[in-house]
Amino acid sequence: MGKGLGKGLTSYGDDGFSLFLRKAFIKAMGYSDDALSRPIVGITNTHSDYNPCHGNAPQLIEAVKRGVMLSGGMPMVFPTISIHESFAHPTSMFLRNLMAMDTEEMIRAQPMDAVVVIGGCDKTLPAQIMAAASVDLPTVVVPVGPMVVGHHKGEVLGACTDCRRLWAAHRADTIDAEEIEVINGRLAPSVGTCMVMGTASTMACITETLGLSLPMSATVPAPHADRVRIAEASGRTAARLAVEGGPRPSELLTPQAFRNAAVVMQAIGGSTNGVIHLAAIANRTPHRFDLGELDEIGRRVPVLVDLKPSGAHYMEHFHHAGGVPKLLKELGDLIDLDAPTVAGGTLREVVAAAEDVPGQDVIRPRGAPIKAEGSMAVLHGNLAPGGAVIKQAAASSHLLAHTGRAVVFSSVADMIARIDDPELDVAADDVLVLQNAGPKGAPGMPEAGYLPIPKKLARQGVKDMVRISDARMSGTAFGTIVLHITPESAVGGPLGLVETGDLIRLDTGGRRIDVLVDDDELRRREMARARQGRGRTPERGYARLYHASVLQADEGCDFDFMRHPSRMSSDSE
Ligand code: FES
Ligand code: MG
Repeated sequence: MGKGLGKGLTSYGDDGFSLFLRKAFIKAMGYSDDALSRPIVGITNTHSDYNPCHGNAPQLIEAVKRGVMLSGGMPMVFPTISIHESFAHPTSMFLRNLMAMDTEEMIRAQPMDAVVVIGGCDKTLPAQIMAAASVDLPTVVVPVGPMVVGHHKGEVLGACTDCRRLWAAHRADTIDAEEIEVINGRLAPSVGTCMVMGTASTMACITETLGLSLPMSATVPAPHADRVRIAEASGRTAARLAVEGGPRPSELLTPQAFRNAAVVMQAIGGSTNGVIHLAAIANRTPHRFDLGELDEIGRRVPVLVDLKPSGAHYMEHFHHAGGVPKLLKELGDLIDLDAPTVAGGTLREVVAAAEDVPGQDVIRPRGAPIKAEGSMAVLHGNLAPGGAVIKQAAASSHLLAHTGRAVVFSSVADMIARIDDPELDVAADDVLVLQNAGPKGAPGMPEAGYLPIPKKLARQGVKDMVRISDARMSGTAFGTIVLHITPESAVGGPLGLVETGDLIRLDTGGRRIDVLVDDDELRRREMARARQGRGRTPERGYARLYHASVLQADEGCDFDFMRHPSRMSSDSE
């Protein structure tokens, strides 16, 4: 039995008086003594007029409450920060840690025996899971679900892989201003998260794999009735966890679970942002999300799910093909089925209940994969001593091994100012380099790694170039793009030493990214840069805290002081 209202009493004199006060205030809302004596399930409310992805949150909250009450518990809804990709300045990544802290502290502060977190837009599930891992109260995650697809001129469209593709066509003058406005109204035809395998979908699939949400939670479209039923069932599950006391996140977030998550991330053609978020989540536990292991897994695990941007379909098609349970079944011995889930059993039961859909071709068998290797590869080299990531599944195969001349942009602002300049000295086989766009540099590690193809080359029909940066890239984007170069330029990383005209060699097969400049010259540039000093430190507020405390991409860009205590002493920052 949960402790209900008496949990985590603040001290106003004796405990009895503290509870007396608490009850006096909450009774102002009209609750009965019976209601207040039940196990309490907290439910986060991340609804916001600025967050269309969470537009169905009110309906899901009602369904979770129903599930909690049908199981004899008492639901208590409370607000937390909500973050939408397009409405988060300077970046949603900048705010993720704030949301994680807010969610963690509000779960700790208020009396509850279990919690249901409802989220979905890119950074929200990571923030909520980071919080849940640190609080370690029984937690059920309810993703808001993906949007349904849009249609235009007989073509199926989705946010936001097609946003980019069609905007690129507009830049290249093949779609005019009038048509692009029509398309604008068709790319996001319902509430819910981006329906390609972007970061939101990647994190929802990972959440289900980690056992933190009920089976099929990742894929049921946001507007479907089944989404509401999953919310109700999640409420029931949370009420049970409130009474039984577990499983807690610490029982689910094990090394085997993180390994399963890495396998799934590779097999779904997942977003590179997932790497950062999994590292951050693992850092909230005694375990580690190892980039070397991710790469090793990628060599053995094929891409099986045929979704954009690596493939052809959208989340609703993945759902109707059997969703994550069916994928886990296809992955077979690559998945550790002993991993427990909030549903009560292990992934073995989830796989046993997976639906086999005749004729579906969205979830491929291992013998006929979309790509023989996994979605992502981890690179090292003199440009990335701490590692870098490339989403090889969404890259052009002819560019995966490429040497080209660097065309350097020193910041996002510099890139915006010059990329479309007709005078820019750039050719299709050059390598576009973006500096100072990492966690501290920009700040907030914007999704600027998807540098646009310079307009004059786009007009000549150039669709892809090698692009490298310390930035991130949206999971919905595609191209031969090296990201998360660590350490970032702004903290002295070698990426900041690259000059226009240097030769850069990308060797994805050999897992290398190098600048072909000799060590003496690099040292000379480093000394010159040290004399110039580093950029400004923000004067106040959250930006100052962020700048002082954010970790590099390989550590998940969490704040150094938010890591699990066992991780703080052993790791350098
Ligand atoms: Fe919310 Fe894409 S903008 S998931
Ligand atoms: Mg995104």
